[in-house]
Amino acid sequence: MTGGLFLTLCTLLLVQAVSSCPKECGCDNNAKVVDCRGRGLYDIPHKLHRDTLELHLQDNHIRGIGSMAFRETPYLRVLDLANNSITMVSPSALLGLRSLNTLILANNTIRELDRRLLGSIRNLTHLDLSHNNIVGLPGALADSFHHLTHFSLHYNRLTKLDRTHLEALGNLQVLHLASNPWKCDCNMIGLKLWLETFTFKGGVVDAVPCHEPYAMRNRDLRSVPYELFHSCMSTSYNYLFANIQHMERQQRLLRGVPYPSLDAPVEQEPECEAKPKPRPINLRHAIATVIITGIVCGVVCLMMLAAAVYGCAYAAVMAKYQRELKKREEEAGRMEKENSENKEGAKELRENAIA
Ligand SMILES: *[C@@H]1O[C@H](CO)[C@@H](O)[C@H](O)[C@H]1NC(C)=O
Ligand SMILES: *[C@@H]1O[C@H](CO)[C@@H](O)[C@H](O)[C@H]1NC(C)=O
Ligand SMILES: *[C@@H]1O[C@H](CO)[C@@H](O)[C@H](O)[C@H]1NC(C)=O
Repeated sequence: MTGGLFLTLCTLLLVQAVSSCPKECGCDNNAKVVDCRGRGLYDIPHKLHRDTLELHLQDNHIRGIGSMAFRETPYLRVLDLANNSITMVSPSALLGLRSLNTLILANNTIRELDRRLLGSIRNLTHLDLSHNNIVGLPGALADSFHHLTHFSLHYNRLTKLDRTHLEALGNLQVLHLASNPWKCDCNMIGLKLWLETFTFKGGVVDAVPCHEPYAMRNRDLRSVPYELFHSCMSTSYNYLFANIQHMERQQRLLRGVPYPSLDAPVEQEPECEAKPKPRPINLRHAIATVIITGIVCGVVCLMMLAAAVYGCAYAAVMAKYQRELKKREEEAGRMEKENSENKEGAKELRENAIA
């Protein structure tokens, strides 16, 4: 009787175990790995075992990932979706995958990633987004990936990369940026500086070949001399502010103050052209005020100095003139006196002669 019950229980468990591997996939229940690569799948398979740690879905025809697509497998550590046709990824697609450390989305047709998507997988160490159509990264990136060590962005459509995106990736070791149409203008100085620090600290970067401007085509950003960024220095306020912001961030990091929430506006690097920059308005005002005050004070001082010099010179000349005048007058007076004396003498002589 008990034997029979035990048998039924065993069969039930067995059926359960078998049913927890989708028929399209191969499962290694010991290693908790589910392998569904190259099975012509259009969707994410269901009836996955709850304890699955690795899910391989590469080389299929999956087009999109819906909300909470992996809720059956909350303990996933590795999720490989490379070489599918993924265009759309729901912002809540990866919600609940708190242990996920490797996410491979390479060789798809993703254009953009929602910040909420990245915010839900904060334990990631490897993120591969290569061979997609990504044109920009969400600002929340920096807030989400403090554990990230490997980050692949090669073969995308990035033209610029905000250094603030990379700054907070304090554990980053390998970064792939090759084969993007990088636009090596003033916006890229921040990245150039960051890359220098990164490689100095032992980080590995594959290549950052410029695509624009034409004169720099195929030159690596890191080897473009600073002198060629000369025009950026004329708008060096922007440059200055970029660095002030950077320093603020660094100090916040040092003090361990958390970053602004995910809903904070996306930070943007200043533009090359002297476009109005909305963010550091009070700082900019302060500096402008100081400069204008300085110029006005300087001009006033110069004018006062000029007036003083002129006044002194005038006074000196006038004094000299007055002295001269006085001398002349005295002389004239003396001569007149002599003249009258002479006349008197002549009169006497005449009188004497008459007498
Ligand atoms: C991508 O997947 C297709 C099948 O969907 C396969 O034929 C092809 O070899 C794969 N490419 C790579 C680079 O793995
Ligand atoms: C995140 O990763 C660390 C090590 O990389 C691990 O110790 C920790 O348990 C992980 N957190 C979760 C929620 O899995
Ligand atoms: C993506 O495709 C390229 C070429 O088509 C291939 O060399 C690369 O290994 C693929 N990457 C992944 C992660 O499948």
